[in-house]
Amino acid sequence: MVALSATPDCCWTASAPRNDFPRLTGVNDCDVVVVGAGIVGLTAALTLCEAGKSVVVLEAREVGRQVTGRSTAKITTQHALIYRHLIDTFGQDLAQCYADANREAVEKIRRWIDEHHIACDYQRQSAYAYACTVEGRSAIEREAEAARCLGFPARVLMRAPLPFATTGALEFPDQAQFNPASYLVGLAAAVQARRGRIHQHTRAQSFEHGGRWQVGFEGGTVSADKVVVATHMPVQTPVDYISPSQPRCHVAIAFRPQEGAQVEGMFIAVDEPTHSIRMGRDAEGPLMVVLGPRFNTGQDGDVARRFVELEAWARDNLLVTEPVWRWCNEDYDTADRMAYVGEPDPEQAPGYFVATGFNAWGISNGTAAGLGIARQIVTGRRPWASLYDPRRPMPDDFNQSGDSQSQVDDLQALGLGQGGVISRGDEKIAVWRDDAGTLHAVSAACTHMGCTVTWNNADRTWDCPCHGSIFQADGDVIHGPAREPLARREV
Ligand SMILES: Cc1cc2nc3c(=O)[nH]c(=O)nc-3n(C[C@H](O)[C@H](O)[C@H](O)COP(=O)(O)OP(=O)(O)OC[C@H]3O[C@@H](n4cnc5c(N)ncnc54)[C@H](O)[C@@H]3O)c2cc1C
Ligand code: FES
Repeated sequence: MVALSATPDCCWTASAPRNDFPRLTGVNDCDVVVVGAGIVGLTAALTLCEAGKSVVVLEAREVGRQVTGRSTAKITTQHALIYRHLIDTFGQDLAQCYADANREAVEKIRRWIDEHHIACDYQRQSAYAYACTVEGRSAIEREAEAARCLGFPARVLMRAPLPFATTGALEFPDQAQFNPASYLVGLAAAVQARRGRIHQHTRAQSFEHGGRWQVGFEGGTVSADKVVVATHMPVQTPVDYISPSQPRCHVAIAFRPQEGAQVEGMFIAVDEPTHSIRMGRDAEGPLMVVLGPRFNTGQDGDVARRFVELEAWARDNLLVTEPVWRWCNEDYDTADRMAYVGEPDPEQAPGYFVATGFNAWGISNGTAAGLGIARQIVTGRRPWASLYDPRRPMPDDFNQSGDSQSQVDDLQALGLGQGGVISRGDEKIAVWRDDAGTLHAVSAACTHMGCTVTWNNADRTWDCPCHGSIFQADGDVIHGPAREPLARREV
């Protein structure tokens, strides 16, 4: 396996301050319990606190350090090519609703940053969807027409302001970018200032309804009238959202740019292979952040190779020097490219809200989701007609669950930093070798629904090829829907 040079961490989370909210224990009570302190959860929590609700936020790990904190963090209504698709699939009214909800979300982020003095490197930028083919150029022209119909001042350019050849670009002016982890740390402080209670290292394990909701976690419970399950993929829900969604992963590298080099704007390619580009910064100075094409989580047995390919692409096409940070991140795609947000089953599970399936555009869609759920809780009315309808007909075969890509016969063949899955009787065991040569083992059966995990040789995690759960090398849960760790085993 190739040695990857950059630090295996995300430049935003590594540069953001940390909150020190304590773990929760004992018996607790509030109006609304919000599970998950990502952009959906904290947006909902702050809106609810502003409306006078008593709110408890449970966060399994730390505020803002999961999918939101590791995103590209473009705050934009331009979601690559989306509006032509929305008009054709859902009609003009719903496409307008999507546009308006995202426009409001982008504006809300800007206002909250101002109002709460959140230091998060917020910068106005144009968002560009760029093409490198003739077909891509035509798609951009069709998208521009659709976007203008919905009130966006979209401009088609002959070429993107990038240092390589393009066939055109669609510009949405006056969008923005930020450090998403710092933003969420700031939102959490604003929630706390409005008497919201936030508890880190408190993983919700059970959700029971008996008049009120009771959410259980290790060492305690919290009772509430309403629950907002903002865990990215809901860890429990009355409606199946795993079959109609597919976890998709991207690799990201933050490079130190060449002296004085930068790109002006935020860029997403419309052709395959898709790359995403923007500037950022860490404590040492400016960074050029570059993302590679998506792949199904847990279905690639050599993620390190993707970093090598991305680095080669960036060196060929951009003015970069050494890679400084590298990381993976995943989001859930849906078949119709629309999220599922709201109360999935008001009859059987009243007051139980979910938000998932942001198709890699959850900074604005996730903010819209958090605002919308909070408004529904406060007013009793759904704020948007059928936008994000969590009960709409959904395909049951969009998810392409796969098998482990790490099956091996002989553990001796595992090099340093490598992992493999072996069979021992009826059980599959996931084993990896650390840098000192010691083998470590856990059960290879994902604790969500039992799929066999794949070793991610770049992040050193066990990734599930079915519904996107990600476990630390020692088995602890990083990302759900799993709630329980992989069981420890002897080698
Ligand atoms: C590579 C990549 C780039 C992206 N770039 C952009 C972009 O530029 N612009 C954009 O709009 N969108 C972007 N997105 C999409 C966006 O980042 C996500 O859609 C959005 O951040 C999801 O937010 P969330 O609050 O649902 O999830 P998260 O931020 O992951 O928050 C969920 C929280 O719930 C916690 N949790 C999970 N289980 C439990 C439990 N049982 N108990 C308690 N807490 C729990 C987690 O620890 C986590 O903190 C990108 C996505 C990816 C993968
Ligand atoms: S995430 Fe569902 S089986 Fe692993």
